[in-house]
Amino acid sequence: MDKLRIVGGNRLGGEVRISGAKNSALPILASTLLSSGVMRIGNLPHLHDITTMLELLGCMGVEVAINEDMSVEIDCRNVHSQVAPYDLVRTMRASILVLGPLLARYGVAEVSLPGGCAIGSRPVDLHLRGMEAMGAHIDVVDGYIKARAPEGGLKGANIFLDTVTVTGTENILMAAVLAKGTTVIENAAREPEVVDLANCLIAMGAKIRGAGTDTLVVEGVEQLNGAEFRVLPDRIETGTYLVAAGVTGGCVKTKDTDPLLLEAVLHKLEEAGAVITTGDDWIKLDMEGRRPKAVNVRTAPHPAFPTDMQAQFVVLNAVAEGTGTVIETVFENRFMHAQELVRMGADIHVEGNTAVVTGKEGLTGAPVMATDLRASASLVLAALVATGSTDVNRIYHIDRGYECIEEKFQQLGANIRRVSGR
Ligand code: UD1
Repeated sequence: MDKLRIVGGNRLGGEVRISGAKNSALPILASTLLSSGVMRIGNLPHLHDITTMLELLGCMGVEVAINEDMSVEIDCRNVHSQVAPYDLVRTMRASILVLGPLLARYGVAEVSLPGGCAIGSRPVDLHLRGMEAMGAHIDVVDGYIKARAPEGGLKGANIFLDTVTVTGTENILMAAVLAKGTTVIENAAREPEVVDLANCLIAMGAKIRGAGTDTLVVEGVEQLNGAEFRVLPDRIETGTYLVAAGVTGGCVKTKDTDPLLLEAVLHKLEEAGAVITTGDDWIKLDMEGRRPKAVNVRTAPHPAFPTDMQAQFVVLNAVAEGTGTVIETVFENRFMHAQELVRMGADIHVEGNTAVVTGKEGLTGAPVMATDLRASASLVLAALVATGSTDVNRIYHIDRGYECIEEKFQQLGANIRRVSGR
């Protein structure tokens, strides 16, 4: 199994290009199942999760061609299977995103029920309840969600989501675009990736109002057409490189991104003492060689501070001046990185959903283990500041969400390399 070997202590500097957003690309790829024409999707990141989604579409009969400009052409006109098998779903929970499109377009879907994962139990009950409200009949048999639309197809419905759910909102939205009549989704997720999906569906001919607010109104249409769409920049990748600059006292410009996507994160970085400058499609963070100041962070659905940046800010506080409190309100078990960081000398006390982090002047290199995607990114950040060498094991988590992470960090002056091994 590959690992990343990092020798810390270099102050990061320079420019880095931000990739397309994984969490936007995944639902957009799933949405191509709704199209009666050919779709062309640009700015897809090169990541394992994207390959898995393309593989999943492929096993249903979808034809995928990669163009010279790295955009992907997707032809869903010959779909012959509506099954998402266990072997693919178990490697990527976001496979559940094919449920809504399959049910809306073909009236049937069989999707392996995703299990729990490292950050919590993560049920999909709200996805299923939304489809049931549209008239679907759903059973869970042999570990599979078996869903069937009523005679004549899904029907528009009023759906209130008890909890704000990103993929749940996306799945129900994709089911609603071809349903008969009007669907209203209340307490919908407002994440930029939900808005990006809605914009892609609108480009295909869907009628959707309210994207970016907590109420989505969808008028069902007869069919959706082929369209061209470019995935928005990855705000979490952007934030991760900015924090890397912050913790190493460096100066990094992230390019091909959008400052409007991460206002809550930029606000916290300024509070931590960073000098932030922005343009239409870039963000520069200059720490001017200083240590960051500890900040208090509370995760919550967009536009509040994103849970996917929580682990990176635990590291920022771990090397900051002062003590910061980090409260996680989205997932019940998302502090797995804390114990690994303690092994590198961090002072972190976790109680329930709160981590109290007291900054240390330095961390020390150690062998550590990645447990989930963002936790692994935080271990890389800690390793970049630590004295000595750190091996980050189980980096397949990182490869799911960060394109060319070692090349991008090398470009910024980090001493990092991939080591193959058992
Ligand atoms: C998405 C993101 C993930 C991010 C998360 C929160 C993708 C592919 N992944 O995950 O990176 O960390 O949003 O911003 O976009 N819940 C239920 N019932 C449901 C659905 C969710 O109780 O049916 C709960 C979850 O357990 C969790 C909370 O709702 O506590 C939010 O989860 P959700 O927004 O659904 O996360 P994902 O969409 O899986």
